[in-house]
Amino acid sequence: MTERTLVLVKPDGVARGLVGEVITRLERKGLRLVAAELRTLSRETAETHYAEHRERPFFGSLVEFITGGPLMALVVEGPRAIEAFRALAGATDPVKAAPGTIRGDFALEVQNNIVHGSDSPESAEREVALFFPDLG
Ligand code: TYD
Ligand code: MG
Repeated sequence: MTERTLVLVKPDGVARGLVGEVITRLERKGLRLVAAELRTLSRETAETHYAEHRERPFFGSLVEFITGGPLMALVVEGPRAIEAFRALAGATDPVKAAPGTIRGDFALEVQNNIVHGSDSPESAEREVALFFPDLG
């Protein structure tokens, strides 16, 4: 059964020239791109995307960071795509992320951890609709 997930190459990843690296890794895994757009998020979209973290102490800083420059929004498809991309991304804290994962290979700070991937079918549906409302 095929599944879709939202992947973001966050502004730190775009600024560091890692868009191609991320796309190469997910394509090499067997996931397929179904949508892609470089864009800078509005505060409103960022706050909606990260609504589950609204009460966390890092929320304000996270919204500043994610709106601070262009990001690459991707919709990716494949069998168990949600879990498959989370495995490619590695743990949220890039110091704890295993070497060989995107975060484990390219990042040191939790906020600047290069990529986002939806964490459940419910999140994926909500996030894909938020970023790509016209996608069928
Ligand atoms: P979270 O949803 O917990 O992680 P993930 O991206 O792995 O699903 O958190 C969302 C983002 O918030 C995370 O990628 C980086 C940032 N963040 C911080 O800046 N500080 C923190 O302490 C945590 C837990 C997350
Ligand atoms: Mg999350």
